[in-house]
Amino acid sequence: MSKTQDLGSLLQDADLFRTQGYINGKWVSASDGITFPLTNPATGSKIADMPHMPRTQVSEAIDAAKAALPSWSALTAYQRSSYLLKLHSLMEQHSQDLGTILCVENGKPLAEAKGEIAYGASFMQWNAAEGLRTYGQTIPSPYPGTRNIVIKQPIGVCGLITPWNFPNAMITRKMAPALAAGCTVVIKAPAETPLSALAMAVLCERIGIPPGVVNVVLMDKGDREAAAGLELCENPKVSKISFTGSTPVGRLLMKQSSSTLKKLSFELGGNAAFIIFDDADLELAVTGVIASKFRAAGQTCVCANRIFVHADIYDKFATLLTEKVKQLQIGNGLDQGITIGPLVNSRGVEKVERHVKDALSKGAKVLIGGEGFSPNNNNNDIQGEGVETCFYKPTVLINVSDDSFVSSEETFGPLAPLFKFKDEKDVIEKANSSEVGLAAYFYTKDLSRSNRVSEALEVGMVGVNTGVIAQACIPFGGVKQSGFGREGGPSGINEFQIEKVSFLT
Ligand code: SIN
Repeated sequence: MSKTQDLGSLLQDADLFRTQGYINGKWVSASDGITFPLTNPATGSKIADMPHMPRTQVSEAIDAAKAALPSWSALTAYQRSSYLLKLHSLMEQHSQDLGTILCVENGKPLAEAKGEIAYGASFMQWNAAEGLRTYGQTIPSPYPGTRNIVIKQPIGVCGLITPWNFPNAMITRKMAPALAAGCTVVIKAPAETPLSALAMAVLCERIGIPPGVVNVVLMDKGDREAAAGLELCENPKVSKISFTGSTPVGRLLMKQSSSTLKKLSFELGGNAAFIIFDDADLELAVTGVIASKFRAAGQTCVCANRIFVHADIYDKFATLLTEKVKQLQIGNGLDQGITIGPLVNSRGVEKVERHVKDALSKGAKVLIGGEGFSPNNNNNDIQGEGVETCFYKPTVLINVSDDSFVSSEETFGPLAPLFKFKDEKDVIEKANSSEVGLAAYFYTKDLSRSNRVSEALEVGMVGVNTGVIAQACIPFGGVKQSGFGREGGPSGINEFQIEKVSFLT
């Protein structure tokens, strides 16, 4: 049997580890007492039993958010900004503990998890400032003696449906602009990583954010999760849904929201092309692929999924990349020196296995990896008998054929497939052949190619000579079936506001 992990004992401030939902300023179990087990993907150990809330509790959370809206939206932007700055500072102060919680529930190595906390905190800082600058407009009127005045107002109660791959930052990326704009929120945290959401609720409580402004509801995957999504989409008290997740779920939420015509912003699946031209700095390009492909064990929407390498440098690049991948240390993210952790669950491992098997059957060859991994568990936890862990070795495949699954599906795992190309036009066409368009990357030293290719790629974000694009100050989001709306950047807060015009006569 698997052992239970004592997460509290790993924390300096054990109070950040909560196992109840947060509704209207109260910590609550599921109303019918049902729980689901949360496990550590690195060890298979149980971390806690979490509330498996029914739809009625999601509705209660919405009621609480609606009741809190008038007074929260009536605060000045300066008052709300000061709450966000306090959250930013508490997140920095507790970065070790927040990182530990994140590492244990999600699997990403502690250093990377702490990096995510800094990234998450940066959304607080950015939006604390943006909230002060949500300017309106005075528009000259065609009618004598009259004036048009445009103000921005909070859209209302927001349903934030967040993913497990960034258990902290995808909450703050939505919550910070919502709160700055004067909205109140119901966060449906993911079943795989609820603890990071709850730790943020603890911080909100500590700085005195009033009851009902921030609510966190939890449930396992399956019927109750579907019911929670439906409640958020169909309840007329909710004005906006911000969702990060898969394209199929995005389609479903959009359909479900149509009855109440909610404002939506969706950050959905990607299938990022990573192109290395023949004039690229190969060492830099290898570093970029490692950063883009193996961050979060390959489980980000902006991870390189299809790596296109010019034929003239293909073999050299493959060798250099393989050497670098050899240096990655796979294991329990709490252990010293680990640079790549497990996937979040066994379904994730199965998908990588399917993609590798399929590519091999179509002629690809493994340069490194290509199989699962059994960790040698060290001091941080004890693996019990028969427990399931979720590791897959970082993998490089060459000679990958264009009709492989990995060419059209997002792997969401540590698989780097190398495709060969000869011609710029041809590789752009291949890159753009995907139905999704979130991010793309390319490496070149040619300035005019740099402009040309950036403009030609059908995505929302392009990394030029870098494998890392994420920052709070950029408009993050995609085109085609990667969704719509932008998070962060100067326009991110607009997603949580309406423009109201007064025509003064
Ligand atoms: C995502 O994978 O959805 C977010 C990645 C990022 O913010 O860099």
